[in-house]
Amino acid sequence: MSLIRRSVEALKGYTPGEQPIDPAIVKLNTNENPYAPSPKVAEALRGITLSGLSRYPDPMCVALRKRLAELHGCSLEQVFVGNGSDEVLALCTRAFVENDGTIGFFNPSYSLYNVLAEIRDVGQHAVSLNDDFSWPIDAAVVELTDDPGCSLFFFTNPNAPTGRLCPREDVRRFCAGFGGVVVVDEAYVDFSSEDCASLALELDNVLVARTFSKSYSLAGLRLGYAIGAPALIEALYKIKDSYNVDGIAQVLGLAAVTDQGWMKDNAARVVATRERLCAALEHLGFRVCPSQANFLWVEPPAMEAKEMFDALRAHRILVRYFPGERTGRFLRITVGTDDHIDRLLSVVNTLCSGV
Ligand SMILES: Cc1ncc(COP(=O)(O)O)c(C=O)c1O
Repeated sequence: MSLIRRSVEALKGYTPGEQPIDPAIVKLNTNENPYAPSPKVAEALRGITLSGLSRYPDPMCVALRKRLAELHGCSLEQVFVGNGSDEVLALCTRAFVENDGTIGFFNPSYSLYNVLAEIRDVGQHAVSLNDDFSWPIDAAVVELTDDPGCSLFFFTNPNAPTGRLCPREDVRRFCAGFGGVVVVDEAYVDFSSEDCASLALELDNVLVARTFSKSYSLAGLRLGYAIGAPALIEALYKIKDSYNVDGIAQVLGLAAVTDQGWMKDNAARVVATRERLCAALEHLGFRVCPSQANFLWVEPPAMEAKEMFDALRAHRILVRYFPGERTGRFLRITVGTDDHIDRLLSVVNTLCSGV
C-alpha cells in the first residue's frame, strides 16, 4: 500500500520559473521588478529587533489590513492578507469548491490554477481564449452555465502569460453572469491602465487578488491580499493557518504600501521600457500581444520559440518558454531595466539577422 494519497502521488506539481544563482545572467523569466523596493522598506527593516522576533505576529494582520482598506476605500472586514497571493488563491480553492466541484479558468492563463485544482483533487474547466488571446466573455458564461459544479473561477487580468487586459465592463458582465465566486487575479494591475477593484466592492461574488511581488518589488517577502465582500473574506479567515503572514512581512508590507509614489514611479519606468521593447521587437518582425503587464508575450519571426529561448539562454539571457499547443509558439519576456533590454535586443538582433 502506498503511503501517499493517490491524487498526490499522481501530481506533477507547479514548475516555478528558474532562479539562477549566476548574477551575470539577465533574468527576464519570472516577472519580478528590476528596481529596488521603497527606501521606507529598508528603514522598516532596520527597525526590526531580535527581541521582536521572539513573539508571534498579529494573526489578523490588522495594521496592514487597515492601510490596505484605506487604499481601496473599504472596511477592514473586506481585506484578507496572505503569504503571497498564491496562498490567497489556494485558500479560495478550499473555501469555495465542494469536493465534487470544479475550478474554472481561461486557457492560457496562470499555470498555477490547474495545479491547485489537482492538489484539491477536484475538476477543472478550462475555457479557451480566442485566437488573439482576447476573451469570449458571453460564450464563456454560457459554457459555464452547463457546469453547475464550477463554483470558483480564476480570471487573470491583465492576463498571464499574454499581458492582455480585459476591459472592466467585460469582467463585470462575466462576474454578473457566473453563478460562483470569481477571483480577479490582478497580480500585474499596477502596470495597467484599468483595474477591477470596484467590482470586488460592489458584487457579492467577486474577490480581487493583488500581490506585493511585482509592482512593490517584494517577491522575496511573500505577501499578497484579496479584497471583496465580508462573507467571502471571513471564509478565508476561518481556514487560514494561525499565523499565515510572518511579522517581518507585515511590517515591511505596511512600509511599502505607504510609499505609493515609489511604487508608481517604478511601475511607470517599467511601462516606458515595455513600450520601447514592444516597438523594437515589432520592428524586427515579432508578433507582440498588446500588454498591460510587466512582460511581453511574443512570437519570434522565422525561428521556433524554443530555439530562440535556447539561443538566448546560451547568451545568458533567461526568458520563459511554456511548451504546449496554445503557448509553444511564444516566449514571455519580463521587462527589465533599460540596460537589460538593450542587451536582449542586441542578441535578438544578431539572431534575427542570422536567420
Ligand atoms: C497571475 C499571477 N497571480 C499570482 C502570482 C503569484 O504572486 P505571489 O508572488 O504573490 O504569490 C503570479 C506570479 O507570478 C501570477 O503571475
